[in-house]
Amino acid sequence: MGRVYQLVETWRFQKQKLKRLSNYNTYNLLIFLSIMNTSSPITVVGAGTMGNGIAHVFAQAGFKVTIVDISLGQLERAVATIGKNLDRQVAKGSITEEQKKETLANININSNMIAGVKDASLVVEAATENTELKLQIFEEMDKYAPKDAILATNTSSISITKIAAVTNRASKVIGMHFMNPVPVMKLVEIINGYATDKEVTNTIVELSKQLGKVPCVVNDYPGFIANRILMPMINEAIYSLYEGVAGVEEIDTVMKLGMAHPMGPLQLADFIGLDVCLAILRVLHDGFGNPKYAPCPLLINMVTAGKLGAKSGEGFYKYTAGSKDLVVSGMFKK
Ligand SMILES: NC(=O)c1ccc[n+]([C@@H]2O[C@H](COP(=O)([O-])OP(=O)(O)OC[C@H]3O[C@@H](n4cnc5c(N)ncnc54)[C@H](O)[C@@H]3O)[C@@H](O)[C@H]2O)c1
Repeated sequence: MGRVYQLVETWRFQKQKLKRLSNYNTYNLLIFLSIMNTSSPITVVGAGTMGNGIAHVFAQAGFKVTIVDISLGQLERAVATIGKNLDRQVAKGSITEEQKKETLANININSNMIAGVKDASLVVEAATENTELKLQIFEEMDKYAPKDAILATNTSSISITKIAAVTNRASKVIGMHFMNPVPVMKLVEIINGYATDKEVTNTIVELSKQLGKVPCVVNDYPGFIANRILMPMINEAIYSLYEGVAGVEEIDTVMKLGMAHPMGPLQLADFIGLDVCLAILRVLHDGFGNPKYAPCPLLINMVTAGKLGAKSGEGFYKYTAGSKDLVVSGMFKK
């Protein structure tokens, strides 16, 4: 009885998805059917902040997901985080207890890359933002994932074309840039590498919609769109502080109340991580060779001093566990 019920549910679920595909061609349909039919169709590589969020949204949309990480501790923490976030959704009434259980039942973990990707139709890589590491991971994924699987990366700034070039399937490599926190943020910035096949892009667009997200397709140039526009704004806010134009609170207040931004640029930089902001600015600076992207010396100093923002306990603001108060760091108090 249980098995029959499961089969009917799976069929109903597939039918719903296929209904939306009436405009799609055979290639898309084949990829979709393979994603729906394999025992573990989606693999997420990297179980950190973004990896657990990406696994969460796929599992909640009904897909079987395997999370792969080199650290077993990270894998266990990822499942615990997903559980906590699902509890919050149940408490808010946005999902039922039953849906929470189904979501968790869709998730597997594996600390072995070969076993983790061998049945995947789509791999979404969300490992640490480091070019050498990503190139090595993509070489490995290309070797062990099925030949027709799509390999996506959640990189914030590394060239998709460069990543694709280390594989033997450049046409099936694409950027799938989720925003943090993944279960909450609607956007998926989809980045076409130089060789990405149009049908692969269409498939990822459709999949993103299945997750309840809004996909936006852009091309592969440094920073794509999100960070090409966001990071110069953050850098300019840091320059304004460095040059003494205004203090931390004033800069953030002007942007919050004057531009209706939910968070000021300095607070946002702390939230993203100042090391991450610096790394992305360096990609823009190197990629375009334009001095307008040169990272502010204050940002470089703060990263060198280990003041990385919320994750290190101090950036432009000081963070105390358990407190939600926004307190300007002693370094910038007037
Ligand atoms: N944090 C954000 O706000 C944000 C937003 C958008 C995109 N991104 C991008 O998402 C990616 C992940 O960022 P994050 O913030 O989740 O990082 P994180 O540091 O929280 O997690 C990275 C994870 O990758 C794992 N890892 C490292 N090497 C690995 C390997 N060889 N195989 C498998 N796993 C490995 C680590 O153990 C860790 O669990 C990066 O490319 C980042 O640029 C981050």
